[in-house]
Amino acid sequence: MSTPLTPVLSDTWDAERSWTLDAYRARGGYDALRDALSRDPADLVQLVKDSGLRGRGGAGFPTGMKWGFLPPPDGGPRYLVVNADESEPGTCKDIPLMLASPHLLLEGVAITSFAIGCHHAFVYVRGEVLHVYRRLLRAVEEAYEAGLLGKDVLGTGYDLDVTVHAGAGAYICGEETALLDSLEGRRGQPRLKPPFPAVAGLYARPTVVNNVESVASVPAIVARGADWFTAMGTERSAGHGLFSLSGHVVRPGQYEAPLGVTLRELLDLAGGVRPGHELKFWTPGGSSTPIFTAEHLDVPLDYESVGAAGSMLGTRALQIFDETTCVVRAVTRWTEFYAHESCGKCTPCREGTYWLQQVLRRIEGGEGTEADLDLLLDLCDNILGRAFCALGDGATSPVTSSVQLFRDEYEAHITGGGCPFDHSRSALFE
Ligand code: NAI
Repeated sequence: MSTPLTPVLSDTWDAERSWTLDAYRARGGYDALRDALSRDPADLVQLVKDSGLRGRGGAGFPTGMKWGFLPPPDGGPRYLVVNADESEPGTCKDIPLMLASPHLLLEGVAITSFAIGCHHAFVYVRGEVLHVYRRLLRAVEEAYEAGLLGKDVLGTGYDLDVTVHAGAGAYICGEETALLDSLEGRRGQPRLKPPFPAVAGLYARPTVVNNVESVASVPAIVARGADWFTAMGTERSAGHGLFSLSGHVVRPGQYEAPLGVTLRELLDLAGGVRPGHELKFWTPGGSSTPIFTAEHLDVPLDYESVGAAGSMLGTRALQIFDETTCVVRAVTRWTEFYAHESCGKCTPCREGTYWLQQVLRRIEGGEGTEADLDLLLDLCDNILGRAFCALGDGATSPVTSSVQLFRDEYEAHITGGGCPFDHSRSALFE
C-alpha cells in the first residue's frame, strides 16, 4: 500500500529545535507571509474559499466563508481569535503543533489577520498547558524582534499585534463564544447565536474565531495554491489534516494525511492494534462523536462519509479501544467529564449530564435495572437539540451510540450485578 501521509503542518516537527524562528525560517518559514502581504486582502479570502479549507476545530465550517461573513470595514477594530483551547477527550493535535511549530501558527495568524483587516489578534490557549503558553510567548517575542509582528510588518506598512492569553482550564471555554467572554475577563459561558462572532464577537466587534490547525493550514495554501490543496482529500472535504491516534495502538501519535483516509490505513501506519488484541470500538473525532466499531474500519474519514455512517469527523481524535475495554466504563468516564465541565448555564446540559452520570455509575456498579437503559436514552433525548451549546449534544453521543452498539454489554452489567471485565487487562501502561 502506498503511504497516505502528507506532512505539511508536521513537516518540520523533527527538525532540531523546530520551535525556533531560525529553524522555521531555514525551511522557508514566513516566505508565504511576505508573499501574502504583497497581495490584495480580498484575493487572499477568495484563495482560502477556493481551497475548500474547512474549520479543523471539529465543526468543519468553511474557513474562507467564515472570513467572508465579516461586515464591510467601518473604521473600528476587527479581531482574529485563535481557539487554542483544545480540550476534547482524545483530542491532542493543536498542542503538539504549537509546541513543535509555534511560528507556523504565527505565520498563519499574520496572513489571516492581513486578509480580514485585523490589527490585533489573540491566541487563547488552555491554561493547563503552561509549556505551550511559554513557547508561544517566546515565539511571539522572536517574531516581534524580527519585524514579523508589530509595527510595519516586513516594511509593508501593515501593523499587527498578537496577544497570547492563557485560559483557566475550563472545557466550556473552547466553545467560541464562551471563549470570547473569558477573554473579555468574564466567566466563560456560551452566548446566544446569532449574532455570530463574525458580526459581534470580541468586545462586540466583528471577529473571526478559527482553530489552531485551520490557521496553521493557511501559509501552505498561500505558498502552493488552492489547486494543490483541493487535489488532496475529497471533493467536499479538501486537503490534509492531523489524525491523532491514541489508546490500544502500537505507535500512538499524529498522522498527517489527506481527509478521506481510513482508520485501516492509519492503523497500518501506526503498527496496528496492540499485538494479540483486536479492535472493539473507536471514536472518529473525540468523545463527543458517536463511537464506531471494526465494521467502520473502511469508512473514509471525511465529513460526508463519517456523517453518512452515523458519526462525525469532529477533531479526528481516533481513540482506539480493544476487546479488553469495558464500553460501559469508558462511556461512564467520558460522561463524568461532561458532567464536571458543564458550565451550568442551561438546564438540559446541567441536569442531564448529572443524571446520565448517576445512571451510568449505577449500571457500571452492578446496581442498574433494565429500565435504566431506556432512562439513559430518554435523558439523551431530552438533552439533544435542547442544550444551549454543543457540549450537551456531545455528551449524548457516546451514550446513545454505545447503547445501540453494545446493549448486551450494558445488560451483562445489570444481570451479572457488576462489570464482567478485568480492567487490568485494558490498562494502557502495563
Ligand atoms: P457550529 O457548527 O455552531 O459553528 C462552527 C463555526 O461556524 C463557528 O465559528 C460559527 O461561528 C460559524 N458559523 C456557523 N454558522 C454561521 C453563520 N450562519 N454565520 C456566521 N458564522 C457561522 O459549531 P461549534 O459549536 O462552534 O463547534 C462544535 C464542534 O466543536 C463539534 O462538532 C466538535 O467536534 C468540536 N469540539 C472541539 C473541541 C476541541 O477541543 N477542539 C472540543 C469540543 C467540541
